[in-house]
Amino acid sequence: MFAFLSQTFRRFHDTGAIAPSSRWLGRALAAPLTERGEEPIAILEAGPGTGAVTREIVRHLQPVDHLTLCEINPVFVEHLRERFESDPRLRPHRDRVDIVQSPVESLEGEGCFDHIVCGLPFNNFDPEQVREIFSVFQRLLRPGGTVNFFEYAAIRGLKALLVTRAERERLRGVASVLGEVIEAHERRRKLVLVNLPPAWARCLVMGER
Ligand SMILES: C[S@@+](CC[C@H](N)C(=O)[O-])C[C@H]1O[C@@H](n2cnc3c(N)ncnc32)[C@H](O)[C@@H]1O
Repeated sequence: MFAFLSQTFRRFHDTGAIAPSSRWLGRALAAPLTERGEEPIAILEAGPGTGAVTREIVRHLQPVDHLTLCEINPVFVEHLRERFESDPRLRPHRDRVDIVQSPVESLEGEGCFDHIVCGLPFNNFDPEQVREIFSVFQRLLRPGGTVNFFEYAAIRGLKALLVTRAERERLRGVASVLGEVIEAHERRRKLVLVNLPPAWARCLVMGER
């Protein structure tokens, strides 16, 4: 919690939250990983931070599966590396996990993942960056793959009341890009009240068939 909070103050643009996700939000985001056959699956977590959602993802990992964690902030990367050595919930999975320090937009490859779990703070980004990130997700996913992300309930609207006109325009742009993606690809959503603040967990099917 302290590691997270100190980065919230230092790098609010990237961190974009006052607290890590609750275990209930983590569970909702990881739920699609249970829908699987016999085949191994590959998962990407974009923006794992201190690993709040990662701890829920690893509960679904089979020995044959693979998880890539892509995190932009080197302090969080170091924290995650340390947690995979010392946390009894994470340590058993360390051989099937890669931790990459990079913006997720820079990941290369095509059709490499079955599921993407995303913790990125879209409300802090420009609309073009949000669009680019979803197009990268689409490229990275296998046919029928899912993107699972969250939006804080009502926060964009509240924020828009308190900011400059330029900021309001930016938030409107972000809402419009997310709205398009959701309309085209959403499979289901769930409101998670036990989170600070409450959040919608959204599951999209984005991998092209
Ligand atoms: C809202 S925090 C979520 C942390 C964690 N997933 C959780 O739910 O508690 C956003 C995370 O995304 C990371 N991040 C922001 N922009 C990123 C980018 N372009 N690529 C990868 N990670 C990014 C931040 O450093 C931070 O760890």
